[in-house]
Amino acid sequence: MKGVVLAGGTGSRLFPLTKITNKHLLPIFDQPMIYYPIQTLVDAGIRDILVVTGGRNAGDFLRLLANGKHFGLSHIDFTYQEGEGGIAEALNLAHHFADGHKICVILGDNIIEGNIRGAVEEFLKQPRGARILLKEVQDAERFGVAELVGDKVVNIEEKPRRPKSNYAVTGIYMYDTTIFDKINTLEPSARGELEITDVNNAYIREGTMSFSMLEGWWTDAGTFDSLLRASNLVASTLRKPVEGTPRD
Ligand code: DAU
Repeated sequence: MKGVVLAGGTGSRLFPLTKITNKHLLPIFDQPMIYYPIQTLVDAGIRDILVVTGGRNAGDFLRLLANGKHFGLSHIDFTYQEGEGGIAEALNLAHHFADGHKICVILGDNIIEGNIRGAVEEFLKQPRGARILLKEVQDAERFGVAELVGDKVVNIEEKPRRPKSNYAVTGIYMYDTTIFDKINTLEPSARGELEITDVNNAYIREGTMSFSMLEGWWTDAGTFDSLLRASNLVASTLRKPVEGTPRD
């Protein structure tokens, strides 16, 4: 399976922090934001990774990530999204890279505590379709929200005013090779973007969408509040030495 990190868009909700740099290069505690989603894919055993970026600072990604050596990779791929036509538009740029393989996609501002290896293994056993990762949250209206009936997702609503559940669709998605045909049937939403939620609903209509519950904390980092929360979560959990463990 191949991995795709989506790091395009303008980061307008973080202006002026994003006036002179890309959102995904901002610090989350002690590392640039983009390190976390890449590490999530690497920890899941994915070695072939494409970073989709955009905007005026795309060259900085190349200087920062170079050849992927920091993550123990032998290479890393890059491509460039012109404009900010939405998550699904950015993902469509991975068509050539995917080259007939299943893909695991992660949004460049999604940071998790745990590991997605189990979900990736489940998806590899799935003959076709897609798999999303859900997380129970208190502010579901900020996200794509899954409507569950029994053990099935029957619909996803993007940022609903009255969420039908507390299950947010996290920015980690797994797709089979039909993803690109599905993106090509999309129309821009009211906000002028090709929505990942529309792609996921196409899989739901087809009856091939499955899901896993994400263990551990999850946060995005695209607003001032969530950017701060992400740094605090990383500092207090991922970097906290276990008591009694000698430092070397
Ligand atoms: O974080 C999870 C949520 O992410 C999901 O629950 C929503 O269903 C999904 O639509 C998305 O919502 P956001 O409004 O938070 O997405 P945002 O526009 O902030 O974009 C998230 C990342 O996607 C961003 O860090 C980079 C990438 N992106 C986004 C756009 C609009 C691109 O690569 N290109 C784009 O054009």
